Amino acid sequence: MKLNIALLAGDGIGPEVINEAVKVCDAIATKFNHEINWMPALTGAAAIDAVGEPYPDETHEICLKADAVLFGAIGHPKYDNDPSAKVRPEQGLLKMRKKLGLFANVRPTFTFPSLIDNSPLKRERIEGTDLVFLRELTGGIYFGEKGRRDGGETAFDNCVYTRFEVQRLAKKGFELAMTRTKKLCCVDKANVLETSRLWRETVQAMEKDYPEVTVSYEFVDAVAMRLVQWPNSYDVLITENLFGDILTDEASVISGSMGLMPSASVGTENQLFEPIHGSYPQATGLDIANPLATVLSAAMMFEMAFNLKEEAEAIKAVVNKSLAEGIVTEDLSGKNKAYKTSEVGNWLVENI
Ligand code: IPM
Ligand code: MN
Repeated sequence: MKLNIALLAGDGIGPEVINEAVKVCDAIATKFNHEINWMPALTGAAAIDAVGEPYPDETHEICLKADAVLFGAIGHPKYDNDPSAKVRPEQGLLKMRKKLGLFANVRPTFTFPSLIDNSPLKRERIEGTDLVFLRELTGGIYFGEKGRRDGGETAFDNCVYTRFEVQRLAKKGFELAMTRTKKLCCVDKANVLETSRLWRETVQAMEKDYPEVTVSYEFVDAVAMRLVQWPNSYDVLITENLFGDILTDEASVISGSMGLMPSASVGTENQLFEPIHGSYPQATGLDIANPLATVLSAAMMFEMAFNLKEEAEAIKAVVNKSLAEGIVTEDLSGKNKAYKTSEVGNWLVENI
C-alpha cells in the first residue's frame, strides 16, 4: 500500500522525536511491504522564522493532499514570555485544527505493566486503567470571540458551542464506547455553564440511539478528582475543548510519563497524529527526549488512518519490549542506564 504522510516536525524536541518515528515507520513499511511517501512541511516557530506564519498555506496544501499527518510539537519559549507577540506558534496549531476540521481529539490513557511503579500514583489505584478521552477540538473558549475592552483593563474569552458540534463529537464517543466496554462519561459543568447544559441535553437525547451504552454525567471538578482516585472506573469520556485539555494532561500522570501518550485528531477531511507532550525546549538538540509517544502516535496512524492493524500491533509490541528490557530515555530510566532518543529509535528498528 502507498501511504502519503505529511510530516510536521515543528519546534523544540519535535524534529528529534519525529525522526525516530520516521525510522520506525520505514522499518514497518519494509517489513509489511508498504511504500511511504513522506511529505515534510513547516509549522510552529520554525515556520514563523522561515515565512512569518505558524501554519503557512503551503503546509495546509500538503496536509490536504496527504492521507494522514504526523506531527511533532509546537512552541518556543521566546514567545511564552512576550504577551505582546503578534504571532505565536500555538496559533498555528489551532489554525491547523480548524482548517483541517479536526474536531475530535482522541487521547487514550493506559498503563504499561513494566512501568506501573513509575507513576506517582499507587499501583493498586491505577492497575488496569484503560480509558480514552474524546476532547472536542475546534470549538469552545479556544475559538470564541476574545478581546479587551475598557482601554485594555477588561479581557474576555467567550465559550460557544452549537448543538451540531456537540452531536458530532458525542456520536464518535458513543461509537467508540460500543467497541469497548459500552461505558460513556459526559464531563461538563452543567450546574454553572449554559454551554454545558447544551452538551448534557444533546447527549441525553442521543442515548436512545445507543441503548447498550451506559452514560454517566459528571461535573468536571469531580472528574478531576476521581480520575486520580479511581481511574479504572472510566472508559470513554467526552468533553469540551478546555476541560479536555486540562484533564488529559492530568490523566497522563497515570501512565508514568507524558513522554508515552499518543493522540489522534480526527475530522471530516483528514487525520492527524501527535504525542500529547509539548516541545520541551530545554531538551532541544540534546537527544534525550522520549520518542515513544510519537512512535505510538504512528501506531495509531497505521490503525486509524490506514486500517493496518497488524502494523500497529507490531509497533506497540516492540515498544512494550523496549520498556520491559529497560531500553528507555532518562525520564523512565530511574537509577538504570538512560538511553538516548536516537538509541531507543535504533533499538526499535533493529527489533522490528
Ligand atoms: C494540547 C496543547 C495545545 C492546546 C496548545 C499548545 C495550544 O496544550 O494539544 O493539548 O491547548 O490544545
Ligand atoms: Mn494541552
